[in-house]
Amino acid sequence: MANIIVIANQKGGVGKTTTSINLAAALCEMGKKTLLVDLDSQGNASSACGLSQNETPPTVYDLLLGEAESKECIIRAKEDGFDIVPSNRDLMAAEIQLLELEDRELVLKKALEDAAMDYEFIIIDSPPSMNILTLNALAFAKHLIIPVQCEYYALEGMTGMLESIYQIKESINPKLDLMGVVRTMYDSRNSLSVEVSAQLKKYFHDKLFWTFIPRNVRLAEAPSHGMSALKYDPDCTGSKAYLSLAKEVVKKTMES
Ligand SMILES: Nc1ncnc2c1ncn2[C@@H]1O[C@H](COP(=O)(O)OP(=O)(O)OP(=O)(O)O)[C@@H](O)[C@H]1O
Ligand SMILES: [Mg+2]
Repeated sequence: MANIIVIANQKGGVGKTTTSINLAAALCEMGKKTLLVDLDSQGNASSACGLSQNETPPTVYDLLLGEAESKECIIRAKEDGFDIVPSNRDLMAAEIQLLELEDRELVLKKALEDAAMDYEFIIIDSPPSMNILTLNALAFAKHLIIPVQCEYYALEGMTGMLESIYQIKESINPKLDLMGVVRTMYDSRNSLSVEVSAQLKKYFHDKLFWTFIPRNVRLAEAPSHGMSALKYDPDCTGSKAYLSLAKEVVKKTMES
């Protein structure tokens, strides 16, 4: 059974998708068979893997609504070695359609449970809100990684999010565990970055990954080339940081 990791933060633009893709690529480079699930109707993870919004069906939408089986939805990322269940704008409609179903938080789990046997890691990229899709990811996953941008208001909304996680743990998924918070877009020349980082250390202690992800333009460029930064520029500081994060992740899964 795969180690299922959801990358979530209801705050937008904090590096969820960048972390999902590059963590999947780094795990893959470490020889781990990895599946990336794009659970965001923005489809950013899919396009960053070189898939266009038009050429992707069947997608995670068809999977969630029982219109396709997992093996029909899983494809190989164009340049990277991991597999992906892509998404596109159709997924927006699924949010509403899912609300009508019984056990609506467990749809993703039921749809991917079999496929989970074929992978060592499943990484789920989630949307910037605590909607039914995010709930599905949190109901399926064992581990949660929260990317936090080292900037003002970084902790805003975090308490609410941690409370939601606690409620999910108490109700639909007792296995769910916060693996860690990862600092993203860190800039050591910026005193605010350093200050926020220190605050995070104080608040999260051993739940803060040692690795931080630096602000690195190569990480921002890679998606437009349809590949992870690890493929686009393996030697850049961003790629090296994601490899280091992947090593921490593997270590933590072995300890848990
Ligand atoms: N470490 C980094 N250095 C430089 N740019 C970054 C870094 N991480 C992310 N970015 C850029 O910041 C923007 C937001 O990142 P990303 O899309 O990963 O965030 P997100 O949390 O998935 O956003 P959303 O909430 O909209 O899904 C993107 O343009 C991305 O390329
Ligand atoms: Mg995203």
